Amino acid sequence: MSHTSQFKPLAPETVECPYPFYRAMREEQPVYEVPGAGFFIVSRYEDILYALSHEDIFSSMVPPGMQGEPDDEAIEIMKSGYLPVNTLLTNDPPSHTRYRSLVNKAFSARRVAQLEPSVRLIANELIDGFVHSGRCELVSQFAVGLPLTVIADALGVPRADMPRFKKWSDDSVAPLGGMITHQRQLDCARSIVEFQHYFAERLEERRSAPRDDILTDLINARLDKTEPLNTAEMLSILQQLLVAGNETTTNLIASAMMLLCQNPDQLDEVTEDRSLIGNLVEETLRVESPVQGLFRVAKRHTELGGVKIPAHARVLLMYASGNRDEGHFADAQRFDVRRANSRTHLAFGQGVHFCLGAALARLEGKVGFETLFARIRNIRLAKDGNDLTHTPSFILRGLKELHLEFDPA
Ligand code: HEM
Repeated sequence: MSHTSQFKPLAPETVECPYPFYRAMREEQPVYEVPGAGFFIVSRYEDILYALSHEDIFSSMVPPGMQGEPDDEAIEIMKSGYLPVNTLLTNDPPSHTRYRSLVNKAFSARRVAQLEPSVRLIANELIDGFVHSGRCELVSQFAVGLPLTVIADALGVPRADMPRFKKWSDDSVAPLGGMITHQRQLDCARSIVEFQHYFAERLEERRSAPRDDILTDLINARLDKTEPLNTAEMLSILQQLLVAGNETTTNLIASAMMLLCQNPDQLDEVTEDRSLIGNLVEETLRVESPVQGLFRVAKRHTELGGVKIPAHARVLLMYASGNRDEGHFADAQRFDVRRANSRTHLAFGQGVHFCLGAALARLEGKVGFETLFARIRNIRLAKDGNDLTHTPSFILRGLKELHLEFDPA
């Protein structure tokens, strides 16, 4: 077996397949101080859960430098837009609680369930685009378009603006892995400013002409029932809906299909018994977690998994490792659509920051696969074009491409 110290956490080969590294950490040093990197990686299920449920000790207000935050030149560019404010992902209670309660309603299970017919319609429209050719590249022809169109519709963005929308979404997440060039970071900063100006204008439009969409909800929202949100706060929330919701759901759909193609017996089971699709989504989130991990910072001196953590130290909660922890999931490395406790995964986090869009992502995954299985059959990996490599990031995990062949149903 390989040892924790033999791995370079940011080396391309580790990022492409981090699972042996996670396993070594869990077995040898479950709270591992990465030499020279200035942070700890937390790899066991129970320790991650402990940190997530103690937001009084482990803050989400992570100081700059770890999650691909902009450098000085990028900040100069961002000054021509709206400087970031902490609302959801990078905030702590009690301020986080106030913002979160404003957006909870828009993403409640009940509101999301009402979207089902439109999610199905969008899935069918995307499949119309490739069904007759007997082959497709699933990421670009289906998995990107489904969540992007759903959120664009919910925000009230015209379909014609979708290509710009996709670019803003990509450019908002690209810095997250911390693995992009300086030039790319500047491009991303320019793109985010463009996004802000676009949505600041749309918000102004809603102020004078309200509609039934999330932008109008934000205009009407009142913090503590009195204070309206300012534009910078609304933009921060909107950017997180884009960042957190698109690429993650795209990656979930592509990974699920890859895992099924690699396990044809399970593909047969799921296509024959569609009631397994819900658990297919959960099991994929477990074994190929789209968000591999996120940082917290210790507010004070503490201990985690028996390891002393000094005040202000950063800890990377490796959700993807907890999701393969043998102490919680039997035969944890195995993909199993019938696994009974798949849904206890940590892929949506846990506690006060539990994914706002979890119900929506689950719906998109379920309806996406129901629609695919209704329209195409005999699905298999295409003979050429597949190297099954992932976008380089140690935070977000997703296939670059997935080429399939199939028969129209
Ligand atoms: C498969 C798809 C998705 C995955 C794997 C995912 C994963 C996550 C994770 C792990 C967190 C917790 C962050 C933390 O621990 O600090 C989170 C939070 C969040 N997610 Fe998702 N997400 C997905 C889809 C979505 C969608 C569709 C939306 C919205 C449209 C969304 C919006 C958010 C927001 C706004 C937060 C911040 C919540 C807060 O800090 O209170 N996510 N997500």
